[in-house]
Amino acid sequence: MIIDSQHPIGVFDSGIGGLSVLQALQTELPNERFVYLADNAHAPYGEKSETFIRQRTHAIAEYLLTQHHIKALVVACNTATAAAIHELRALHPALPLVGLEPALKPALAQSQTRHIGVMATRATVVSDKFARLLASVQSEAHFEVLACNGLASAIEHSTLPDQAQAAQAQIAHLLQTYTQAMGRFGCAPGDIDTLVLGCTHYVFVEQDLRQLLGPHVQLVSTGRPVARQTHRLLAAADLLNSGKTDGAAQPIRLMTTGDLQGLQAAAQRWLGLPPEVCEAVPALLS
Ligand code: DGL
Repeated sequence: MIIDSQHPIGVFDSGIGGLSVLQALQTELPNERFVYLADNAHAPYGEKSETFIRQRTHAIAEYLLTQHHIKALVVACNTATAAAIHELRALHPALPLVGLEPALKPALAQSQTRHIGVMATRATVVSDKFARLLASVQSEAHFEVLACNGLASAIEHSTLPDQAQAAQAQIAHLLQTYTQAMGRFGCAPGDIDTLVLGCTHYVFVEQDLRQLLGPHVQLVSTGRPVARQTHRLLAAADLLNSGKTDGAAQPIRLMTTGDLQGLQAAAQRWLGLPPEVCEAVPALLS
């Protein structure tokens, strides 16, 4: 397979959560074209089996490589990364590949109280990859890790006009329940002063979390470091698009295996993108 610097970068997530990473990628790499795939028909991944998540990840990587000739892939999903990134690396050794993991190490660098909360999906939390990551930092701080069932789904539903109100109420309820279960937040000794958003969907409820936890708690996500890592990998492989764009925005394509309206609403709300850039992908992937 020929990899060309003019080709787009593929980005995928179980749904709209990866749009938070796409936002950072667009800022970091304004000369690049992106194709984004939301596997909405099969979301949430976080409450599915590892085998299922691996199968979906492989099918999507294959589709983006063969149909869109991507030059790099960003797995903008902590859950898919935990389940399948090692296999993807083995299968596509020449492809620049970036995955996401909950930002425990950056959180460690920021926390004063050494008491850190981690919100992620169930599949991420029970994965071997996450167990290894946690073991590597556990002696340095106290981590309160919580599998936040239902939260990614509620965030998905919050973009649909007819479901937004109920979804918003559900989000408020889940955030209250999960943060309470973790312990006391604040900056006094023993308080959780840093919260890791270990699922790309959760970035879209940052404001709600800030209101709930107050201004002193630091929220840590991975969009910007992932965008910088993608930049570094492309540069190292001599795959940066050096074509002059004269400041014009590069074309972008957003695709979904599920409900087109939901993706359109999310793209409009969070990235300011018009509905025309969104499309449904062929049935073979659905
Ligand atoms: N956005 C995904 C993540 O970062 C998963 C959400 C889901 O489908 O459960 O883990």
